[in-house]
Amino acid sequence: MIMKKSILASLLGAAVFVSCGQNVQKNDVPVYLDEDSPLEARVEDALSRMTLEEKVRVLHAQSKFSSAGVPRLGIPELWCTDGPHGIRPEVLWDEWDQAGWTNDSCVAFPALTCLAATWNEDMSAVYGKAIGEEARYREKDVLLGPGVNIYRTPLNGRNFEYMGEDPFLASRMVVPYVREVQKNGVAVCVKHFALNNQETKRHEYDAVVDDRTLHEIYLPAFKAAVQEGGAWSVMGAYNLYKGQHLCHNEYLLNGVLKGDWGFDGAVISDWGGTHDTAEAITNGLDIEFGTWTNGLSGATSNTYDSYYLADPYLAALRSGEASTEVLDDKVRRVLRLIFRTAMNTRKPFGSLCSPEHYAAAREIASEGIVLLKNEGEVLPIDLSSAGRIAVIGENAIKMMTVGGGSSSLKVQHECTPLEGILAAAEGKAEIVYERGYVGDVSGRYNGVVTGQDLSESRSEQQLIDDAVALASSSDAVIFIGGLNKSAHQDCEDSDRYGLGLPYAQDKVISALAKANPRLVVVLISGNAVAMPWAGEAGGILEAWFGGSESGNALADVLFGKVNPSGKLPFTFPAKLEDNGAHALGAYDPESDIAEYKEGIYVGYRWAEKMQTEPLFAFGHGLSYTEFEYGEAVCLRKTVRHGADVTVSVDVTNAGKVAGKEVVQLYIGDDNSSVDRPVKELKGFRKIALEPGETQTVTFTVTPDMLKYYDSSAGGWVLEPGTFTAYVGSSSADIRTSVRFEIK
Ligand code: BGC
Repeated sequence: MIMKKSILASLLGAAVFVSCGQNVQKNDVPVYLDEDSPLEARVEDALSRMTLEEKVRVLHAQSKFSSAGVPRLGIPELWCTDGPHGIRPEVLWDEWDQAGWTNDSCVAFPALTCLAATWNEDMSAVYGKAIGEEARYREKDVLLGPGVNIYRTPLNGRNFEYMGEDPFLASRMVVPYVREVQKNGVAVCVKHFALNNQETKRHEYDAVVDDRTLHEIYLPAFKAAVQEGGAWSVMGAYNLYKGQHLCHNEYLLNGVLKGDWGFDGAVISDWGGTHDTAEAITNGLDIEFGTWTNGLSGATSNTYDSYYLADPYLAALRSGEASTEVLDDKVRRVLRLIFRTAMNTRKPFGSLCSPEHYAAAREIASEGIVLLKNEGEVLPIDLSSAGRIAVIGENAIKMMTVGGGSSSLKVQHECTPLEGILAAAEGKAEIVYERGYVGDVSGRYNGVVTGQDLSESRSEQQLIDDAVALASSSDAVIFIGGLNKSAHQDCEDSDRYGLGLPYAQDKVISALAKANPRLVVVLISGNAVAMPWAGEAGGILEAWFGGSESGNALADVLFGKVNPSGKLPFTFPAKLEDNGAHALGAYDPESDIAEYKEGIYVGYRWAEKMQTEPLFAFGHGLSYTEFEYGEAVCLRKTVRHGADVTVSVDVTNAGKVAGKEVVQLYIGDDNSSVDRPVKELKGFRKIALEPGETQTVTFTVTPDMLKYYDSSAGGWVLEPGTFTAYVGSSSADIRTSVRFEIK
């Protein structure tokens, strides 16, 4: 320790010690530089040494992705990166164009919908560790992710960056990601706080949401990321709530996040999400990024001094209009963030594109794939007797890591579905390919180009005819389509126009089904899609945007190397009107008001209330084996108010192959005084079972899990009475239930 101090002192040089004034002892290290001192003591020490100008300087960007430190004190800059699926390539200092580095290619991890579909907290930890190591290696301090906005409508262009429709699932999945990233001395920046549930009019719409819905549905995952994950930064959203932009929102930032939840980190604005100096000062924003100072359309060069939290703030401080107390609170938060990340000399070194990261990407991608349908056991395909397999569809050959907005990546390597299938089938089966349809051929985002030539001159009908001809002369057909990351197809800044598949894919699939009954449809998307052909295809897989290893992961599942165990993190409605927001006309792309009329009835909560049968239910996902459930048992059927409830069930692998099952626990309040959902997810556990093996799964239900939010009292309420614990394989496949009473 003594040696460390002297090394630090000599490294930092004399300037620090001469200019700092009080608190400095010759030949010793100032408190703020001493990593053995308590964080708050370091923060106070650094704060006491900073001039007014230095304090304001750390509160806004100095480039597209960095903010200034305090060079005089040896306090470094903060560097941010997108997030949330890989480390974004470097852009120029003051432009969005590529910096042209040759060492900034990364591993793309699967989209967060895929991670959520694993329903496996261990996978979330694996993900966080790997992406955190990549961020650290690239010397980033803040990873702009993960995103946990709730899946309210299947039209939201950014659903693929989030963790589904259920607050409990998203909460459990976000925590390990946050913890593991931050072990690398890299902060997460949980986004977009909050109520950012559509892209249309994302800078304009005011979310009108009742308090109960806010607290029960839209806030829990953020709360878990902050309180259980210990997130060091949070990103404000673009839209408004209570008439105020969410990057400077009194109620949510000062009231809920910093007040109720005790968040001690920094609130970072979304890029261009700051609109007003006075509000930015008083309403909880700490660091301003990406402001478009010539209005809201684009950036003029080097305008950082004109940012709302730059010169205008300084002027307000100098004139006495703004208080130094509020300023110091912001600076403390930024200092904490810097000490935890950029100035942490004890963090590991990280690594980039390591075999372990590719292995993690592949494991998560394959574990997230959901087997939606498997009639006639068309899957897995046995390669040794497969003969000739026709692969049809643009998504089989299209690189998906480029596009989609700020989560777009420059990968070192991406295995497309066709490449994965070819590699797996080599020497075993014949693979033939046809395009089937033409979707997006651009293959570029923000200066990164895939280099793929996807040009195609055949007509729509010719493409279908050629695909059908190939399908008829093959033993099995794998259609690989879905959405892509071009505008209006799972992409930032635009929503989808409808639930249907684009580019006449429905027509292609139906034609293929007629040509060959052994048809498997693979969807690559981050959203639910309509499937008018669902009855015609033997097998249907949802494979998400799988990242660098998407092709290998898909092949693992198609050919049975991996037994699928993913479960849907959101409902696939049969039609758009079966979704609450759409049923009530509460998604209006023309309006500046988004009234969340469906309230707490999001996803399966709505489907169950209305008793509509979804196409595929929340939590649904099949396996190549069968699982049998025993009777759910409650240790004590009558429980005193405030005590935990324990629910156990035996689950057996009754099939012939090893597999993993996600055992799901839902709770319904049988006689509530308020309107409550039929049931809500309150527990899940992924277990691995060999054929014939049985495991007992035990869930602990805490009193908090049984509560509802009482808007008039402004708090959570646990009502005594009878509850039912439903245990099953999906929200629509409940195998056993047991009642218990809270006294
Ligand atoms: C997005 C953020 C992203 C930021 C920086 C914004 O447009 O909404 O999610 O982190 O840009 O690229």
